[in-house]
Amino acid sequence: MNIDIACIPGDGIGPEIVAEAKKVLEAVCRTYGHTISFTDLYMGGCAIDRFGVPLPEETVETAKKKAAVLMGSIGGDAKTSPWYRLEPSKRPEAGLLAIRKALGLYANLRPAYLFQELADSCPLAAKEGGRKFDLVIVRELTGGLYFGERWTKTIDGVETAVDTLKYNENEIRRVAKTAFEIAQKRRKKVTSVDKANVLDTSRLWRKVVHEVAEDFPDVEVSDMLVDNCAMQLVKDPEQFDVILTENMFGDILSDEASMITGSIGMLSSASLNETSFGLYEPSHGSAPDIAGQNIANPIATVLSAAMMLRYSFGLTKEAAAIEAAVRKTLADGFRSKDLMPRDPEEAKGLTEVSCSGMGDAIAARIA
Ligand code: IPM
Ligand code: MG
Repeated sequence: MNIDIACIPGDGIGPEIVAEAKKVLEAVCRTYGHTISFTDLYMGGCAIDRFGVPLPEETVETAKKKAAVLMGSIGGDAKTSPWYRLEPSKRPEAGLLAIRKALGLYANLRPAYLFQELADSCPLAAKEGGRKFDLVIVRELTGGLYFGERWTKTIDGVETAVDTLKYNENEIRRVAKTAFEIAQKRRKKVTSVDKANVLDTSRLWRKVVHEVAEDFPDVEVSDMLVDNCAMQLVKDPEQFDVILTENMFGDILSDEASMITGSIGMLSSASLNETSFGLYEPSHGSAPDIAGQNIANPIATVLSAAMMLRYSFGLTKEAAAIEAAVRKTLADGFRSKDLMPRDPEEAKGLTEVSCSGMGDAIAARIA
C-alpha cells in the first residue's frame, strides 16, 4: 500500500516527536512492504510567524486531500510568547480548534492504559493483584463550550464574560454511536459522563445516549457524574472500558487519565469523522520548556501513528507491530527523561535515552 499522509509538526517539542513517529512509520513500512510519503503543513505558532494566521487555508485544503494527518503539538509559553499578545481567535490554539471543525472531527479517542513495564510509575495507591487498567475516553470534539458563542464586555461598568454550552441531539447521537461501536470491539461497557444534576445539555446528553444504547443491546451502559468520574479515575480506573463524554469534560478527564499511566507522554489520540479520515496527535501539549533539547518523550506520537494505521488504513498487523515495539523498548529498559524513576535504586538497569534515541530504539524493534 502507498501511505500518503500530511504531517503537522507544529510548535515546541512537536517537530522532534513527529520526526520520531515518521522514523517508526518508515521502519514499519520497510518491514511490511508499504511505501510512505509525508507532506509537512503549517499550523499553530509557526504558521502565525510565517503566514500571520494559525491555520492557513492551504493546510486545510491539503489535509482534506490526504487519508490522514499526523500532528505533533501547537502553542507556546503563554507568559512569554508574542503569540499570546494576539487576540484569542488568532492564537495557536485557535488553529487546532479550527482544523478540528473544518475536517468535521467530532470523535476524539484517547486510550489510557498502564504498560506493565511502567507500573512503578503509576502514581495511584497499590491494588491487590497489581494495577491493570485499559480504558479509552471518547470525547466529543466539535461542540459544546469550545464552539459556543463567547464574548467579553463591560456591562454597567462591570467586566463580564460569557461562554455558551450548547449541544443538539445529532451532535450527541453521532459521537455516542462511535463510543458504542468501539465498546463492541472491547469489553462492551460504556460509561457516559455528564453533569445531569445541573446542566440541561447533560440531561439531553443522557437521554440521547440511552436512545443510542438501545441499538447496542450487547453493550452495558451506565451514567456517571463528571465530578464522581474524576474521583473514580484515581480510585478505581479498572472499572472503566469506554468513557463517553462532552468536549470540555473530556479535555479535563483525559489529562487526568494520562497522568495515572505514569506520564502524560504516553497518551495517543485519534480524532475522527464518519469516514476513515483522521487526525492523530499526542494528547499532551507542546512543552515549550523542554523544546529543542531532544529530551521529549515521543511515545504518545508513535502510538498515535499506530492508531492512524489501524483506523485510517486498516493496517491492524502494522499497528500492532508498533505497539509491540514500544512495549519491547520499555521492557528492554529504555526510558525517556520523564519516565526515569527519581530513586537511583529503581533506576538501576534502566537506560535514559533522548527523544531521537527512543525513536531509534522503537524503530529497531519493529518486527
Ligand atoms: C487537547 C488540548 C486542546 C484542547 C487545547 C490545546 C486547545 O488541551 O487537545 O486536549 O483543549 O482541546
Ligand atoms: Mg487538553
